[in-house]
Amino acid sequence: MFSLGFHQCRWNYRDEQDVLAVDSGFEERDFPYDVIWLDIEHTDGKRYFTWDKGLFPDPKRMIDKVAAHGRRMVTIVDPHIKRDAKYAVHKEATAKGLYIKDKDGNDFDGWCWPGQSSYLDFTDEGVREWWASRFALEEYEGSTLDLYTWNDMNEPSVFNGPEVSMKKDCLSLAGIEHRHWHNTYGMYMQRATAEGLELPRRGNARGGGGGDGRPFVLSRAFFAGSQRWGAVWTGDNAAKWDHLAASAPMLLSMSLAGLPFVGADVGGFFGDPSAELFLRWMQAAAYQPFFRSHAHHDSKRREPWVYGDPWTARIRSVVMARYALLPYWYTLFQEASDTGMPMMRPMWVQYPGDANTFDMDNQTQHPLPSLPPQRSKQRLRRSSLMMASDPYTLVVALDDGGRADGNLYLDDEESYDYRDTEGGGGRTTRRFSFEGGVLKGRVVEGSGTYSPANTIERVVIVGVNAAPSSVTLHMAAAAGTASSLDFTYDALTRVVTVRKPDVCVVDDFDLTLSFAAGSTS
Ligand code: NOJ
Repeated sequence: MFSLGFHQCRWNYRDEQDVLAVDSGFEERDFPYDVIWLDIEHTDGKRYFTWDKGLFPDPKRMIDKVAAHGRRMVTIVDPHIKRDAKYAVHKEATAKGLYIKDKDGNDFDGWCWPGQSSYLDFTDEGVREWWASRFALEEYEGSTLDLYTWNDMNEPSVFNGPEVSMKKDCLSLAGIEHRHWHNTYGMYMQRATAEGLELPRRGNARGGGGGDGRPFVLSRAFFAGSQRWGAVWTGDNAAKWDHLAASAPMLLSMSLAGLPFVGADVGGFFGDPSAELFLRWMQAAAYQPFFRSHAHHDSKRREPWVYGDPWTARIRSVVMARYALLPYWYTLFQEASDTGMPMMRPMWVQYPGDANTFDMDNQTQHPLPSLPPQRSKQRLRRSSLMMASDPYTLVVALDDGGRADGNLYLDDEESYDYRDTEGGGGRTTRRFSFEGGVLKGRVVEGSGTYSPANTIERVVIVGVNAAPSSVTLHMAAAAGTASSLDFTYDALTRVVTVRKPDVCVVDDFDLTLSFAAGSTS
């Protein structure tokens, strides 16, 4: 769930004080966000899995402070390994023979951020296992269960190579030339990293973490299959209006290609967005799957409060709208995981029977200015974790026939318990359907028996033609008894708001709108 929240990134947050100041900036402004990211400068000379001890003297202390606010951190870990005999990762990789070879059989030596570098062969299962073990808490010094990972430059990028990559005749450990596995390299790296993050969290690592969380890894390079291992983003864009415009078709294309967890750098990586461009980018990206603000080191700071009001207030309301819809996003992600249907869809995927949508590449909102915000969790919290036990608001938007239906998927939002299909205890899906004036909340059969205590605190029904005379609630488990509920009706917007039904979200119920003779729903 946390990975669906807002991510704050920059190349680079300078030091521990800077990270904590940015965290406090969000905190002081009641501005929700979930993850703060560190780019390559946090390391000791671009030696991944290490820290610049001057800037980050106590990484665990820093991560714990961020985590105390219900938030997480991400550090970057790239595939090029600095050829420094004193660097433990390089020493071990060399001794174990884990690097890609040049055509003469020597460890390939190419130029990247750390200078002379060698590249691990992620196409090899043994190398992946070894890489995964680097993420064990006792191997990755300063890491904690609240630290996740960003894999960049994994095309692989080689600054002094042809097309900024490796020579095509370089060899994998299995003796296969680079030209044959180039496109899969990034995916295998992301996979190895995700498997590594699982280890300590499952308590399998030497020393054992004891946790049981799912991994989160962002990757720049990807291939068919990458969707199994994490999120991907579109790489280095610029703070330009046409790059904002391009992000939508790019993300839609990736989504349809089977990679649904996608995003673009919000604000544009290169350059400085104007306040309006930044706001518009935030407004677009709040409705895109991976939602991360990121910036090049030469750009000006752009934490949301830099712009000042009214911009900051507007940006904040966009992020609040994203957080209010997190349960909806989560349900869409679950559907994508089960069926492949992406969360972000072109109109023609949603309405395949409507030929008007086939060449539509924009979307105009109907002038319904007073439509209530479609928010499924309305309380403002500082992060997704803090929303876990909040009540839900159901927004029921009726079609022309007075009908609506939709699902809500629920699990514990962090562990693998949802996979417990035999017991069915780790997940459940609720179905809400409205017809003939009755809203029914039901369990989707066979969807599991996960049973959180969250309630439904409000039901907003949009498109009701007349004021109901009463709204009654009938619990399936309490035969015969019905209770009458408070509600309001707004004739202008045709919205019924039912207050405090206070049913548990996993209980079966009927909520009935009754109308005086002559009026109609
Ligand atoms: C290239 C990535 O695309 C960018 O996002 C990152 O900030 C730099 N590498 C530095 O790590």
